[in-house]
Amino acid sequence: MHAVDLIRKKREGLRLSRAELEYLITGYVRGDIPDYQMAAWNMAVYFRGMDAEEITDLTLIMAHSGDILDLRGIKGVKVDKHSTGGVGDTTTLIVTPLVASLGVPVAKMSGRGLGHTGGTVDKLESIPGFKVTLTPHEFVSQVNRIGLSLVGQTGHLAPADKLLYALRDVTATVESIPLIASSIMSKKIAAGADGFVLDVKVGTGAFMKTEAEAVELAKTMVQIGQLAGRNTVALVTDMNQPLGRSIGNALEVKEAIRTLQGAGPIRLTGLCIELAVEMVLLAGAATSAGQARKLVEQSLQNGHALRKFGELVEAQGGDSQVVHELTLLPQAEYTGNVLAPGTGFVHAVDPMSIGVTAMELGAGREHKDSVIDLAVGIELQAEVGDYVRQGEVLAKLHANDPKKLDEVMDQALQAFKISEKRSEPNPTIYRRITAKEL
Ligand code: URA
Ligand code: CA
Repeated sequence: MHAVDLIRKKREGLRLSRAELEYLITGYVRGDIPDYQMAAWNMAVYFRGMDAEEITDLTLIMAHSGDILDLRGIKGVKVDKHSTGGVGDTTTLIVTPLVASLGVPVAKMSGRGLGHTGGTVDKLESIPGFKVTLTPHEFVSQVNRIGLSLVGQTGHLAPADKLLYALRDVTATVESIPLIASSIMSKKIAAGADGFVLDVKVGTGAFMKTEAEAVELAKTMVQIGQLAGRNTVALVTDMNQPLGRSIGNALEVKEAIRTLQGAGPIRLTGLCIELAVEMVLLAGAATSAGQARKLVEQSLQNGHALRKFGELVEAQGGDSQVVHELTLLPQAEYTGNVLAPGTGFVHAVDPMSIGVTAMELGAGREHKDSVIDLAVGIELQAEVGDYVRQGEVLAKLHANDPKKLDEVMDQALQAFKISEKRSEPNPTIYRRITAKEL
């Protein structure tokens, strides 16, 4: 086999066999196939696409390029969740204890990530004492004991994806649905779960800007899951404004705890309930969506989900008092209020400028090795559709550097558009995609 023939084949719009993909990917990981050939092949995929079986083969080859976590030691059906990424998306911190409180085991690895805030493990590290590294044995036995474990990524998961993603980033080939879908699903499959619930974001603050693109990505990933023997369901959800009202690591932990107490923002709570329903159904812990929703809502109301979060914190070395005493979380020294410049209805809250503002305050990493400030961030006080009067607080910024706070005030204000006429906010969930409707 020669790489040049496989590039030509894809350039002509033909499909590659599993053996051909294996040759390309494993050759690339070994260093036998150079970047320029891999880049040319990626560009051919960008223009020609791949069929469902081809994408699944690629996904499985990437998943098997490193370790596959072995979760067989955990009893029950392990369901993982994944969000394609948005602003104010604290769902993992809420949904995982929620489903664990209903007997659905969750053994989840999360990244740290670049962008407006840290990843789930950065957020958890704002809880005093919380350890995000466990040995593989501790990781598994904790799930058997309390039903839940949330740790940082360890081991050597999907190295082929890491290499390919970095190459795509500098060759204008990130924006390809087969390549995005296989990239995401290879990492999920390597993380060992039996099924997946995917939250595919759409909107100005998301990777996918239109509903049509998001639906195509969701369908592609559900199909990969199906063909790879993992039950997968996707929700296509709104990211035209931040999901929750808090952006920033400790602030998002606070919001997650308030949501687990039953006092979270409506859109965030609503999406968490639906994601939890899907996980409960995939795990076989309920026989209908109605029954699952009832169980999930009960667990939020009777405090079981909150208690499970406390058990998680305790098990991983953190101060579990935090679930009753939010002041135990780090607090920034300075705050500044963004005020409404006029009276009217909030027409837009741009997630991108909110995200960038939070990052500039220090909540997120601009570069891989930036140090994040867990205390800083933004609390939104208004959302699309709200009526506000001139001078009313639209957002509260939390900072540890008064100069930075000053610098970002105007940018934060620019995120808000106020208009005379009320516009209906987008629904939180646009579509549910299951294997049945592919
Ligand atoms: N996220 C990923 O993990 N991979 C992609 O290709 C795009 C987004
Ligand atoms: Ca939030």
